[in-house]
Amino acid sequence: MVRSTLTLRHWFTACGLLLPIVAFAASPNSASEAKLQGNHNEPHPLVIAHRGASGYVPEHTLASYALAVLQGADYVEPDLVMTRDGELVARHDNELGLTTDVSQHPEFADRKRTQMVDGVSLTGWFSEDFTLAELKTLRAIERIPDIRPGNARLDGSLEIPTLQEIIDLVKTLQLSERRRIGLYIETKHPTHFQKLGLTMEQPLVRTLHRNGYAGRNAPVYIQSFEVENLKALSRLTQLRLVQLFGGGQPYDQQVRGSDLTYAQMATAEGLKAISRYAAGVGPEKSYVIPRDANGNLGQATDFVPNAHAAGLKVHPYTFRAENAFLPTNLRAGDSPADRGDIETEIRAFLDAGIDGLFIDHPDVAVKVRSQGE
Ligand code: G3P
Ligand code: CA
Repeated sequence: MVRSTLTLRHWFTACGLLLPIVAFAASPNSASEAKLQGNHNEPHPLVIAHRGASGYVPEHTLASYALAVLQGADYVEPDLVMTRDGELVARHDNELGLTTDVSQHPEFADRKRTQMVDGVSLTGWFSEDFTLAELKTLRAIERIPDIRPGNARLDGSLEIPTLQEIIDLVKTLQLSERRRIGLYIETKHPTHFQKLGLTMEQPLVRTLHRNGYAGRNAPVYIQSFEVENLKALSRLTQLRLVQLFGGGQPYDQQVRGSDLTYAQMATAEGLKAISRYAAGVGPEKSYVIPRDANGNLGQATDFVPNAHAAGLKVHPYTFRAENAFLPTNLRAGDSPADRGDIETEIRAFLDAGIDGLFIDHPDVAVKVRSQGE
């Protein structure tokens, strides 16, 4: 009940804030903004709004990013994919059926197809088959309506944003919130898009530099599960890069026939190698604190100290408040959709030494951070 009250209040606040954005078009080079974008120490722990405030609003929408900022997030996290005409847009997947109403558009029925994406056969509608103008006719839907039925009430209301629209939103909110707000951008499927002639790295860097984001003090991180595109980015920009860790092997390493695995990359030596091109690492949470055989939170590994010894920041993913995603011993209530004790989970990771965290419910991390001050 508390959750739905908060959700509605925050949603209406976000709507009210989004309406004047077009009218409130401040110059990106204004003096007040320059002050906001100066060389600041980052808050600790860094609160990264995972896909926006995706625990409350359908992910990767301007409303989700705006709500995250109003909740106090330091960075918003857009995942980016490419359109057929080379635009960068925010989606977690290039397959659009999971998070948009594309299946309800008869005019796009013949775009449905099956293809391999990162070594996996997928059937659906793909961003690379749509122009930006076509994508703009779609509307976002909630990815996990069973867990987040409150979010699903917004199905059909919100557009797919471009990177430029997200930058414009963040720059406007910086002025109204009077604080620095960062972009924690992930390139999705870079090898896949490169094979299609839709290389992501150059347009991404061009867009960021054009908007005044350059150098290691800019409030930007660029993250990837792949390795080679981060190395390519390190030659194109001074913006900070983050190596993500999943399971098995990075897809680009698979394609190159390399035997490099995430497990090797997570060793002390592997982390030192990453520090040659990245400023930080984004491990799946279990690299930092695995769960035991009963699904309870276990003991911290040496991942964080090894990463720190290599000079890397550690920002694990993904913290989510619902029982479905929590360690067994921190669940509360009967339903997977009920909220459990995420605060205890966050505190355990803070005790393990993390520098920041990706979270679907940024307000929770902001509150835990304030209690620790
Ligand atoms: O980018 C950190 C985290 O978001 C990686 O997982 O699948 O949610 O993009 P994913
Ligand atoms: Ca991501």
